[in-house]
Amino acid sequence: MRILLISFILSSGIVFGQDIPTLVPADPFDPNGDALRLFDAIEGFGTDEDKIVSVLCYRTASQREVITSTYNSQHGSLENDLKFELGGSFQTLSIMLTHSMAKFLSIELHETMSGLGTDERALTEIVMSRTNQELADVRSFYVNCELWAFASLRHREEHMLRLSKANYSNGRGTTGMRDESNLVNMTLVQEDVVALYEAGPAIFGADENVYVNIFSLRSYVHLNEVGILFELTYGMSLATVVTTEFNGDIGYALYSISEYSRDKAMYFSRRFHEALLYETVAGTSDRNMMRLTVSRCETDLGNIKNIYRSMYGVTLHYSVSEATSGSYRTALLALIGT
Ligand SMILES: *[C@@H]1O[C@H](CO)[C@@H](O)[C@H](O)[C@H]1NC(C)=O
Ligand SMILES: *[C@@H]1O[C@H](CO)[C@@H](O)[C@H](O)[C@H]1NC(C)=O
Repeated sequence: MRILLISFILSSGIVFGQDIPTLVPADPFDPNGDALRLFDAIEGFGTDEDKIVSVLCYRTASQREVITSTYNSQHGSLENDLKFELGGSFQTLSIMLTHSMAKFLSIELHETMSGLGTDERALTEIVMSRTNQELADVRSFYVNCELWAFASLRHREEHMLRLSKANYSNGRGTTGMRDESNLVNMTLVQEDVVALYEAGPAIFGADENVYVNIFSLRSYVHLNEVGILFELTYGMSLATVVTTEFNGDIGYALYSISEYSRDKAMYFSRRFHEALLYETVAGTSDRNMMRLTVSRCETDLGNIKNIYRSMYGVTLHYSVSEATSGSYRTALLALIGT
């Protein structure tokens, strides 16, 4: 009965609602015209940044890929031209918008791991929110492209492996193994709830393997049910359990996965808030804000904006416009929408 109900709810989209993107494909789409428009903006006297925004921030990733290759075949390298003509955060964001999804994600992963210490939160966010296929694409991008010493990824191998269940130790790499179906098996939910209790609160210390396996193999809808039933059965939230039982990176990763499976728009809304907070404090989180915006605008940024407003009492549009300036602001706000 419960399974039937859940499948019904899932197929009718009541539980998770519809994803609301803020960026949709331009229609009609004219890649030649867009490439020419970019060329005009770059080659003209001074650089017309508004014109650059009018193309790059109003086309989807797959459309931008076509525009970029059109530009490259007709005028040289769009990436190099933008690098030469622009500066600061606007330059970073514009170049980010010319990359394919695999390249974009690979560069972002690299960024999170290349500074002084790893930005574990960003790393978790990127790996957790990607499909098995996307993780596999990133993996082959790393291997084929050799843009950076592969060592930097291997260095983080174990963390990634645990989180995504991707296997980086063989040549081609197996993909993530998370179940991506939307059907929930309540018998398995019950088994997982008991297993998590037995491997955690019931014993002294905790069995990390049990947690990592369940959190990295099960679908997010399944994990959401596990969280609900766990709390119902044992009177404590799974998010609290993982933060008390595990420290450091693994604790944070498990906590993030439980929050993400409970409500991904809320999870991302918090991530935006963190990026904006640090933005005003230290000016270091531009990259996080760009990545969040670029990676969610075609998926669920509309939902994230709704939740952001109810959580923080202001619109995301307002917060971003307060924290940024110039063409960088214009570009972000175009992607975020009003
Ligand atoms: C990863 O792949 C290697 C080589 O194929 C294999 O020996 C190893 O057991 C795999 N590890 C996991 C965790 O699946
Ligand atoms: C549901 O999970 C249980 C327990 O793991 C398993 O025995 C059963 O075959 C699963 N049912 C389906 C339809 O997959």
